[in-house]
Amino acid sequence: MVNTGEPSDSRPMLPPCDHAPARYTGPGPEEILALRRDYLGPGAFTYYRRPLCILEGRLQYVWDHAGRRYLDAVGGIASISVGHCHPKVTAAACEQLNRLVHTTTLYLHPTVVALARVLAAHMPHGSGLQAATFANSGSEANDLATMMARLHTGRSQVLALQNGYHGGTQTTMAFTALGTWRFPLPTPQDVAFCPPGYCYRCPFGLSHPGCDLKCARSVENTIRYETCGEVACFIAEAVQGVGGVVVPPPGYFQIVYDIVRRHGGLCIADEVQAGLGRTGRHFWAFENWGVVPDMVTVAKGIANGAPLSACVTRQEVAASMTRRLHFNTFAGNPVSAAQALAVLRTIEEERLRDNAERVGAYLKTGLLALQERCELIGEVRGMGLLIGIELVKNRVTKEPAGEVAAEVCERARDRGLLVGKSGLSGNVLRLTPPLCLTRDDAEFVVDCLAECLPGLGG
Ligand SMILES: Cc1ncc(COP(=O)(O)O)c(C=O)c1O
Repeated sequence: MVNTGEPSDSRPMLPPCDHAPARYTGPGPEEILALRRDYLGPGAFTYYRRPLCILEGRLQYVWDHAGRRYLDAVGGIASISVGHCHPKVTAAACEQLNRLVHTTTLYLHPTVVALARVLAAHMPHGSGLQAATFANSGSEANDLATMMARLHTGRSQVLALQNGYHGGTQTTMAFTALGTWRFPLPTPQDVAFCPPGYCYRCPFGLSHPGCDLKCARSVENTIRYETCGEVACFIAEAVQGVGGVVVPPPGYFQIVYDIVRRHGGLCIADEVQAGLGRTGRHFWAFENWGVVPDMVTVAKGIANGAPLSACVTRQEVAASMTRRLHFNTFAGNPVSAAQALAVLRTIEEERLRDNAERVGAYLKTGLLALQERCELIGEVRGMGLLIGIELVKNRVTKEPAGEVAAEVCERARDRGLLVGKSGLSGNVLRLTPPLCLTRDDAEFVVDCLAECLPGLGG
């Protein structure tokens, strides 16, 4: 049945939307699946038992091949920042597409420097974070950041966090500490992992507050016992997205940054998933901890779904890249850069950061109320519109309920809601919708999940 948002039964109803998708006459899901089997590498996986074919999007909504509408609470895993096909971003892309699609940094182009300048303006005042090196994906940006840190310090030791995700290339996989995302390859050298601030599953079995933030302080021990003591850099997500929307306690990053800097290392904030106003109060997620990194990496939502990423640091750190030739063909592509400029402008003009804070808080309140009625919900956490709902079989043992999370995703999809999964056991429902989500949408998410969670409606 086509879900037009009109009432058909007592199920939660999608808020109204006046966009009508174009009629689709191309290959259906079965045919596309068959073509994928033949022509795509088998490593490309899909969500859902019956994989979904999405063909059109407007702001927070997407439509499938049959014209059925969904609220997109995944947002391309935080890649759709201001909303699908946002008219301001589309206009900027079209204008640039009509002028010039490609030029490299070998030639001068105004858009890429304009973007770098606006990005610099968003960095903490007086931080000197203004030298941008562009690339095409989050993995590449993190690869660049750690490479620059190693070159600048003349050291090789990288520190990262357990449960963190930094990309799928061989280098960034080495900094990723989720076994499910690592291939059996030779163990990378000079990478050590520190305990995350994952209070719900405290690595030391302690409770916050009253734990003296042992997780953060133990970084000193990681350095002393697992490294030569000379640190090149520490890379971390302020909120671990793939790891299950893990929000470290207040004070965590101040302590860790201080330890890392005492050992001569640079601090890299991986803002690929949590940045650009997604956490609401601040533009960057690290700002929620009052720290100032030495390098910031950004990707995903920066160009609202177009491939673009950047590593932003101080000029003296970036200067290490002049020691050899370094070139990236598509980096700073003018179309992606024009889209990114439009995204940054739209976030300000439409006050989307405020919206993320307000609607995110409203959504979280609704989910916390669900938690009171549903034993399966171990914890609801997150900031702004980056929210995780950790499902457990038992609130005392906290045994992860990954199969239940998968089933909830299936049921939600049947009701017109797309939600993501995260966490090592896939048991954390992850909400990363476009930042233009409304209160009505938030109510729909809560009502829909109430229907889908076993023990409530499901
Ligand atoms: C925090 C973080 N860093 C890096 C990456 C890698 O980005 P990409 O998939 O664009 O290479 C991701 C992707 O999910 C991410 O969440």
